[in-house]
Formats: sequence, structure tokens, C-alpha cells
Amino acid sequence: MDPKGHAAIVTGAASGLGAETATRLAAAGVKVALLDVNEQAAKTVADRIGGLAIGCDVADSDSATAAIAKARAAHGPARILVNCAGIGPAKRIVGRDGPMPLAEYERVIRVNLVGTFNMMRLFAAEASKLEPLAGGERGVVISVASVAAFEGQIGQAAYASSKGGVAALTMPAAREFAQFGIRVLAIAPGIFATPMLRALPEAAQQSLGAQVPFPNRLGEPSEFAALVMHCIENGYLNGEVIRLDGALRMAPR
Ligand SMILES: NC(=O)c1ccc[n+]([C@@H]2O[C@H](COP(=O)([O-])OP(=O)(O)OC[C@H]3O[C@@H](n4cnc5c(N)ncnc54)[C@H](O)[C@@H]3O)[C@@H](O)[C@H]2O)c1
Repeated sequence: MDPKGHAAIVTGAASGLGAETATRLAAAGVKVALLDVNEQAAKTVADRIGGLAIGCDVADSDSATAAIAKARAAHGPARILVNCAGIGPAKRIVGRDGPMPLAEYERVIRVNLVGTFNMMRLFAAEASKLEPLAGGERGVVISVASVAAFEGQIGQAAYASSKGGVAALTMPAAREFAQFGIRVLAIAPGIFATPMLRALPEAAQQSLGAQVPFPNRLGEPSEFAALVMHCIENGYLNGEVIRLDGALRMAPR
């Protein structure tokens, strides 16, 4: 799909990979709704790129329904959904203070996996009713998994479970939405230089980057956004989880 002139919803757009994706889409002439629990930070990005910030908890049915309605009222129904909202707290299954509280595990699954599914189902219900574009395509969903879906480290049990769920969701959703001409993809990033990582000491950043075979550095958010654009534009990509990681395979710890 040529995204120019269409409407897109980007979740987690207040920061990091989501903010960069929203910026890239807006520069390509896309009408972008930036959904995030941190509405103020989303507004800062939206004001800079000419998008619309909407406060939204992606894991909450009512909040996501209302946010999609707001985006539709401003931009028309979206043909592009990019699910970047996510959290990544680290904790062992059994730590020094005993087993991980179940609520902590549930929270990560809720935001990363239930939130992705929630946005996908609401988006696809609307996009499936749109007029098809050239080639019969109606829309595209791109979700963010992680290399932790495949090689989760010690302390990433909850995060890896949630991202494994996002990866596994891709194929059944692509198969189901084929009848509507909606493609479903996921990107599994390695380690990217988002604000969270940039906040680490320089030595820690270098040590993380040193684990990447080539290029021997952290990924740049612009490289992630470039792949999102390609996923939108390349109509033959569907049902795939694409690793974007410089051949990184994370060690156990
Ligand atoms: N940065 C990396 O190295 C990396 C690697 C692999 C995967 N990822 C994934 O990419 C995505 C973006 O990561 P990032 O590094 O840009 O993180 P980030 O913390 O910079 O941005 C995440 C955004 O999601 C928002 N958010 C959190 N919970 C939300 C909710 N319930 N509803 C709506 N918004 C919510 C946050 O407010 C924040 O603005 C995440 O899903 C993350 O797991 C990141």
C-alpha cells in the first residue's frame, strides 16, 4: 500500500520506536493518531509532526474503543495499525524474595499481548468494512514482538511470554484477515537505542551493542521505522515475524 493520504494509528507513540514510526509516517503524508497512556508526551510528539495525540490504555477495551473513534472522527478510518505500546520490567520467576507475584506477570501479558490483540481486533473490525485499494488490500497491522520471543534471557520470563504471544498471534490473524485483504506482520527488534536504553551509562550501552555481530552497535529507531514503512509498502509481505537485530542472539543473562 502506498500510505500517503491514509490514516494510521500508532500505539506507544509518545516515545522510542513508536514516536519514530509516527514521525516517519507523518513525513510520508500519512494522517497519524498517536495513542499512548502518556498523553502529554504523545502531544509533544504530535505537535512536532502534525499528528493527533490521544490518551489510551491499549489493554482496556473501552479506552481503545474510544481512542479509535476519536482517531476516526479526525482522520477517517485507519488502514494502518502499528502496535508499539509495551512495557519490559525484568524479574526472575523465583527471586531472592520468593516467586514472582502473579499480578506482575499478568500486567506484562496484559499490556504487551492483550493490548496488541485488543487494538488488532478493534482496528480490523473497522478496516474490514473499507473499500478495497488496488490489489484488494484494505489494511495492514504491524505489531512489535522482540527477539526475547525466541531467546528470552533470565529475568525476561514475563516479557518473553508476552512477545512470544505477539509472534504467535501473527499467523492466525493473517490467515483470518486474508478474506478482508488485511495483512498482519510483526517485527522482532534486537536492542534499539530508545530513550530507555539511552538512559543507561555509556559503558552499558556499549556492552549491549558489543553483543551484536554486525553492525556492532545498537539499532537506531530510524532503522525500525524504515522497516515499518517497507511492511506497509510491500503488499506481498504477510503472516511473518521479521527479526531486525544485526544477527543478535541474546545470551542466557
Ligand atoms: N527498545 C528496544 O530495544 C526494543 C527491543 C525489542 C522490542 N521492543 C518493543 O518495542 C516497543 C517499543 O519500545 P520502546 O523501546 O520504544 O519503549 P518506550 O518505553 O520508549 O515506549 C513505549 C511506549 O508505550 C507506552 N505504553 C506503555 N503501556 C501502555 C499502555 N497500556 N497503553 C498505551 N501505551 C502504553 C509508554 O507510555 C511509552 O510511551 C515495546 O513493545 C518494546 O517491548 C523494544
